[in-house]
Amino acid sequence: MIVITTPTGAIGHQVLENVLHGGGPVRVIARDPDRLPVHVRERVEVVKGSHGDIDVVNRAFAGADAIFWLVPPDPKAKSVHAAYVDFTQPACDAIKRHGVKRVVDIAPLGRGLPIAEHAGFVTASLAMDDLIANTGVDFRALTMPSFMDNILMQLGPIKTKGIFFSPIDGDRKLPACATRDIAAVAARLLLDSSWSGQDHVAVLGPEDLSFNDMAEIMSEVLGKRVRFQRIPLDVYKARFVELGMSEAMAQGMTDMAAAKNQGLDNAEPRSSENTTPTSFHQWCDTVLKPKYFLS
Ligand SMILES: NC(=O)c1ccc[n+]([C@@H]2O[C@H](COP(=O)([O-])OP(=O)(O)OC[C@H]3O[C@@H](n4cnc5c(N)ncnc54)[C@H](OP(=O)(O)O)[C@@H]3O)[C@@H](O)[C@H]2O)c1
Repeated sequence: MIVITTPTGAIGHQVLENVLHGGGPVRVIARDPDRLPVHVRERVEVVKGSHGDIDVVNRAFAGADAIFWLVPPDPKAKSVHAAYVDFTQPACDAIKRHGVKRVVDIAPLGRGLPIAEHAGFVTASLAMDDLIANTGVDFRALTMPSFMDNILMQLGPIKTKGIFFSPIDGDRKLPACATRDIAAVAARLLLDSSWSGQDHVAVLGPEDLSFNDMAEIMSEVLGKRVRFQRIPLDVYKARFVELGMSEAMAQGMTDMAAAKNQGLDNAEPRSSENTTPTSFHQWCDTVLKPKYFLS
């Protein structure tokens, strides 16, 4: 039995589709099962509720061989530690109680770097990985740079003003991956019962690109000039607070961006194993462009 969390999320729904191709039994945890497509509901067992709830994970993890673990965004959390580590504690209790064999989770790059100790969301996310690892379960942390799909959050300013923003230096080349590639790697590990022990698997996309490189590619694909604008860290944080994020979570986003600007995502050596196929150009063609012209 494979258990999938966040089956309606950007990564989770693609992990689920891929895992269903494996043909084995699948259970999902969903707060609102009606949000699952009908063809999915017909194929899976559903446990209703949040995977941050001990009763829910105790029901969902009974008899589980493998779990896909993803912590959902919690913009109003009182701290980044609460959002990642406290949310994951009930699952760790249930993993031990039910003797779950394998866990695959979504995590950030940066383990072992001094800047990762003060990197907001990344610091908390790495502490969550430690919590999972301490259960003794066989574990693969899928470690990510920023997702290409984050650009969709800036579709509004891209459309109206031809601009997207970040506090990161526009010339810093960074890896970036597509959620479809993350899901493919996660599903492969969930369906493969031959691995054991604890390790990380990076998902780096096919190349490192700067935001100025991305602006050029978006301009070419959309047929409209798109440019990158760097903004100060305090302006970046204030925008999140304006959008309703708690002070602590806005600070967590800002600390993470500052760490990325100091090389947090540049330390993982690129290899044929962690280089994944979807290029930013392909992603713009297949994901950004249809949304740009539909919205
Ligand atoms: N963005 C990046 O660049 C980046 C980089 C590295 C790691 N990450 C990590 O990636 C994860 C985000 O993944 P994503 O983009 O796939 O997320 P997403 O698309 O925002 O999906 C969120 C999912 O969580 C569910 N959900 C929301 N609140 C919940 C709650 N309180 N309890 C239970 N379920 C809840 C949602 O389902 P319903 O609303 O249907 O219930 C949905 O299925 C985060 O853990 C983040 O730290 C992100």
